Amino acid sequence: MKFFIDTANLEEIKEASQMGLIDGVTTNPSLIAKEGVTDHDSHMKKICELVDGPISAEVVSTDFDGMMKEAKHLAALHKNIVIKLPMTMDGIKATKACTEAGIKTNVTLVFQPIQALLAAKAGATFVSPFVGRIDDIGRDGMQIIEEIRIIFDNYGFETQILTASIRHPHHVLRAALMGSDVATIPFKVIKQLIKHPLTDIGLENFLKDHENLKKK
Ligand code: G3P
Repeated sequence: MKFFIDTANLEEIKEASQMGLIDGVTTNPSLIAKEGVTDHDSHMKKICELVDGPISAEVVSTDFDGMMKEAKHLAALHKNIVIKLPMTMDGIKATKACTEAGIKTNVTLVFQPIQALLAAKAGATFVSPFVGRIDDIGRDGMQIIEEIRIIFDNYGFETQILTASIRHPHHVLRAALMGSDVATIPFKVIKQLIKHPLTDIGLENFLKDHENLKKK
């Protein structure tokens, strides 16, 4: 399973990519706003310099023409830019048009398996089901990953499942068990993936034993 980092924070991207685990980056207008970015294009270019893999940049237009204009502009910034388009009628039309124009896409704000099927039929490169936000309304968000995997495998769709809105390590584990192609993970959760109390205790004991041996 590929690991993308879900942030627009350059320091987080730099630190996580130094571990050698990061295959790509996803951003969205909320993550960009959180960083107070004023020059979106140059910020996206900086991200592209840090990670050599798919970098999702989201459009903010809601109509087909506006989406296509933004998509062409963003795709021209760097070869690794993937255009994030919302799961709407115009978003699906733009996905199809981008695919025909050779522009990679990530259909976002997906909350049910049939929406993912539509995105795949439109030729999306990635589809982003938001599992944490489904959990938030009292349903099991990961169930849709399982169902999308079945649908894509049934028909041989090459669209990659990008599990998004990940909130904790158990989401990542379940995504891997279910055959999600990618998990996009906030930096906080990437750090949690590494930690286990028994690792810390074990290391502490190894070091203590090593020090005691030196004293003998
Ligand atoms: O990539 C989508 C993701 O950023 C949404 O996460 O935590 O805002 O639901 P969240």
